[in-house]
Amino acid sequence: MKMKVLDILQNFTSELIEENMIEIPAYAHLGDFALPCFPFAKKLRKSPNVIAQELAGNIHSEYIEKVEAVNGYVNLFMKRSTFAYSTLTTIHNQGKQYGSSNLGAGGVVTIDMSSPNIAKPFSMGHLRSTVIGNSISLLLEKNGYQPIKINHLGDWGTQFGKLLVAYRLWGDEKKVQEAPIQTLLNLYIRFHEEAENDDSLNDKGRAAFKSLEDGHPEALELWKWFRSESLNEFQKIYDLLGVSFDSFQGEAYYNDKMDSIVQELLDKNLLIESDGALVVEVGENIPPCLIKKSDGATLYATRDITAAINRKQTYDFAKSLYVVGNEQSLHFAQIKKVLGNMGYEWSETIQHIPFGLILKEGKKLSTRKGKIVLLEEVLNEAIQLAETTIEEKNPQLTNKKEVSKVVGVGAIIFSDLKQHRKHDIEFDLKKMLQTEGETGPYVQYSYARACSILRKVKSVDTFQVTVVNDYEWDVIKSLQQFPFVIQRAAIEYDPSLVAKYAIDLAQSFNSFYGNVQVMKDSSYTSYRVSIVQCVVIVLEEALRLLGIKAPVEM
Ligand code: ARG
Repeated sequence: MKMKVLDILQNFTSELIEENMIEIPAYAHLGDFALPCFPFAKKLRKSPNVIAQELAGNIHSEYIEKVEAVNGYVNLFMKRSTFAYSTLTTIHNQGKQYGSSNLGAGGVVTIDMSSPNIAKPFSMGHLRSTVIGNSISLLLEKNGYQPIKINHLGDWGTQFGKLLVAYRLWGDEKKVQEAPIQTLLNLYIRFHEEAENDDSLNDKGRAAFKSLEDGHPEALELWKWFRSESLNEFQKIYDLLGVSFDSFQGEAYYNDKMDSIVQELLDKNLLIESDGALVVEVGENIPPCLIKKSDGATLYATRDITAAINRKQTYDFAKSLYVVGNEQSLHFAQIKKVLGNMGYEWSETIQHIPFGLILKEGKKLSTRKGKIVLLEEVLNEAIQLAETTIEEKNPQLTNKKEVSKVVGVGAIIFSDLKQHRKHDIEFDLKKMLQTEGETGPYVQYSYARACSILRKVKSVDTFQVTVVNDYEWDVIKSLQQFPFVIQRAAIEYDPSLVAKYAIDLAQSFNSFYGNVQVMKDSSYTSYRVSIVQCVVIVLEEALRLLGIKAPVEM
């Protein structure tokens, strides 16, 4: 144990940072990095203080200037110039590859994400799933995994029977084409209103869904049309967000694959009858998982169990993630248990990645009386707001439209990702678009600033580091952290670490920019330019991993 810690410190490979063991002290007099020795005390049967002293006496590294043992911590003071030179050179040599790792060793990870429901509005929850899932996918790829993004569309279920009935009774083809989601939603709402007085509608709905399940051509035709019109709507949002998918196999895809799974459950003696329905018991603390209703209809869970097995067969995943809101935790716990009871050991590799709600003034954002909040409109409003700011700040900018889009959409994505996904977040367009504070536009603006310096100077590929002042030092320490942040973020499925990192780097770069004149003293110019070049590389990559574009000017 002791040797390992020593080894690591000597080479400064920063495995300790990766394991969250090295801390960055709040005060400079406590060193550039600190290793708390409390966690080793039990194992080594010594006080943290003694361990710290022993370790400190044994640390010799070309990167370390001074080591101190204080109150159970080993405080490390780095040789700034050596450390800076090595950090900057690494980034220059690796370019966009900086921070990549082979942690995943090519293993496939399926990511179930976005997954809106056909004929219903794309909700704020689907937005969160889309941007969180996309960033996780980029982080996994950066760390040597092979992500597969699956859009598990909600395109099957008894509600489509109702929609078929409603359309046949009151539908208007033109209206569906003009505003598919709003029109289909209205039909669905009307169905429910009228069914309150006329119960026969419900029977008709069930019969219509049955005909759909049996593949009745006219029903299937209509359903296909609803699906494709809805998908066209959703695609507009995906285009704006810049998110693509490897598969759109939704719930309907599993329609003809469920029988054999239900049979398998029967064969394995897992199905129990309960009030005419078929369920699987999944333990004492969790309610049983409903597999078939008393009328024989399959359910959301039946399709998810079938989908999980099908995905394992198709992709042989190392891990299977489901980026879905907190409120479905029980559902995924049940699915995992059922698969486990079926004897599938890989059920352990299934993981629900939950997230909180988006709130507006503390309340859940959803259907305003009859009129739905269309996400596309929200995105366009953000783009509009970004354009107004750019018009004010930089009226000469040539590609305003393009930049506004990158900034407006980036602002929404960033504000979503900067807090840990499990938290509920407040949706405040004005706030998220500010160029000051912890926002996407602030990071993008810092990036554009760095780019503008580079436009004024010749790029460098050789430089020397003699002295490193405090401003430069802060930037360099932050640059050096990037690979560890990226790895942690991938391991914990936590894009917020990257967003916070981007803010930190942007902040230290801005105080560097405000206090150090890059071109004033020619003996430092190439070194300082090289810092700016590295900031450009790392900020751009951090934003990319969040699914956000970096504008060279704004
Ligand atoms: N369509 C569902 C909804 O909007 C989300 C689906 C999540 N994915 C899954 N495999 N169940 O609530």
